[in-house]
Amino acid sequence: MRDIAVIGVGYVGLVTGACFADLGNRVVCLDINEEKIKGLKQGIMPIYEPGLEELVTRNVRAGRLTFTTSYTEALREAEFAFIAVGTPEGVDGEADLRYVRMAAQSIANVLDHPLIIVNKSTVPVGTGDWVADIVRAHMTNEVPFSVVSCPEFLREGSAISDFMHPSRVVLGSVDRKAAEQVAQLHLPLRTTIMITDLRTAEMVKYASNAFLAARISFINEIANICEALGADVKEVATGMGYDPRIGPAFLDAGIGYGGSCFPKDVKALAHMASTHGRHPQLLHAVIEINNDQRRQVVWKLHEILGNLQDKTVGLLGLAFKPNTDDMREAPSITIARYLLAEGAQVRAYDPVAMENGARELPEVQMMPDPYTLSEGCDALVVVTEWNEFKNLDLTRIREAMRQPVLVDGRNIYDPAIAQAMGFIYRGVGRGYNGEGPHKKA
Ligand code: UGA
Repeated sequence: MRDIAVIGVGYVGLVTGACFADLGNRVVCLDINEEKIKGLKQGIMPIYEPGLEELVTRNVRAGRLTFTTSYTEALREAEFAFIAVGTPEGVDGEADLRYVRMAAQSIANVLDHPLIIVNKSTVPVGTGDWVADIVRAHMTNEVPFSVVSCPEFLREGSAISDFMHPSRVVLGSVDRKAAEQVAQLHLPLRTTIMITDLRTAEMVKYASNAFLAARISFINEIANICEALGADVKEVATGMGYDPRIGPAFLDAGIGYGGSCFPKDVKALAHMASTHGRHPQLLHAVIEINNDQRRQVVWKLHEILGNLQDKTVGLLGLAFKPNTDDMREAPSITIARYLLAEGAQVRAYDPVAMENGARELPEVQMMPDPYTLSEGCDALVVVTEWNEFKNLDLTRIREAMRQPVLVDGRNIYDPAIAQAMGFIYRGVGRGYNGEGPHKKA
C-alpha cells in the first residue's frame, strides 16, 4: 500500500484516484472546487462515467479513498502527487497551463517531505521541467522531489477499463529512480512499462492523439472521395483494416472527432511546432478536414431541402460520442449553430447529455425520446451513435416526420434498408447503391 495524492477530480484525476485506491493504495483526491468535493463526499459524481460511482463508493467505504480541498491534508502522508488538472485551450490553440501552475505552487507551499510529482495532465513538451522550476522557486522547506511525466491514454466511456488494462504505461523523468518507483505503482496492471526522458514521454501523448485524429480525418477524406465516386467507405475501411499494418480501429468515417482531447491536442501540437519554427502541414489539414465534416451535414440538408429557413431539424444525439454526457467540442454544437444561423428550428434528443446540451445550446428544444423528436421534422440527423438509436422503429419515425430526410452522420443505418423504407438517406461516404454521380445514363 502506497500513499497517493491526486490533484484534480476531472475524468483523469477521479478515475486515476479511484483505480489506484482499488489496487489497494491509500488515495486522497483534491480539488479546489468545493462543490465537487462536497458532492463526492456525499457520493455524487461530477461526471458521468460507466462504473465510476460503484468504484468510488466501494473504495470510500473501504477507507482507501478520501476527498479534500486542502493541500496540507492531501500531501500529509503522500509519497506521490499526481497532477491531473485541466489544460484547456488558450487563445492561440496553445494549452493553458494556469491550473498546472497553481497545483505546482500549492504543492511547493506545503511540501515538507520527499515527494514524487507525477504529471498526468496533457501538457506541452517541456512542462515537466517548468513544473520542477516552479516547485523549486516556491518551496518553503528544502526537501528532495522529482517530476515524472505519466501521460494518460484513457477514453471517456471506457475510462476504468482503459486504466486497469492499459495498452502501455509511458513514464519520463530526468530521475530514473523516481520513474522506477512510479513504475512499481503500475506493476499490478501487468502491462508494458516504458521509461524514457521527460520531454519524450510528454511528446508520446501528443503524437498518439494527433495520429488517431489524423486517422479519423484520413478516413473522412476518403469518405468524401467515396461520395464523389460512388464507393462505400465502410466497406473500404473494412478492406483496409485487414492489413495488419493498418488495422481496423479508428477508421469510422463520420462528422468528425470532438471531445476534450483531440481538438485541443492537435491544435496545441500544431502551435508548439509553429512556435518552434516548424510548419505542421499535416496537422493543419487534419483540423481543416475535421471542421469540414461538420459543415457537410448542413450542405447535405441544403442539397435535399433547399432553403433551411423554418425547416425543423431533429438531432439524434448531442454528446461528442456515446456513453458520455460530455459536450466539450461536440460536433452537435457546431451543427446546431449552423442550422440555427440558417433559420432552422432545431430540436434534439440524447440519452444522457441533454442537461449539458441545454446549457450549450439554449435555443435548441430538448425532446423526451426519439419518436417525439421526429414528429413534424423535415430532417433527422444522427449526431451520436448511441446504441439505442441503432434499433429504432424507423417506420414509426418516418411516419411521424413531415419529410423523410435522414442524414446519418455516424453511418449507423444500412443505406439500402433506409432507402427501401422510404427515407431520403445520406450517410458519410456511402455509395448510395448506384445512385452516385458516376451512374452511367
Ligand atoms: C481520446 C483518446 O482515444 C484517448 O486515448 C486519450 O487518452 C484521450 O483522448 C485523452 O487525451 O484524454 P476520448 O476523447 O475519450 O479519448 O475519445 P475517443 O473515443 O478517442 O473519440 C474521440 C472522437 O473521435 C469522438 O468524437 C469520436 O466520435 C471520434 N471518432 C473516433 C471518429 O470519428 N471515428 C473513429 O473511428 C473513432
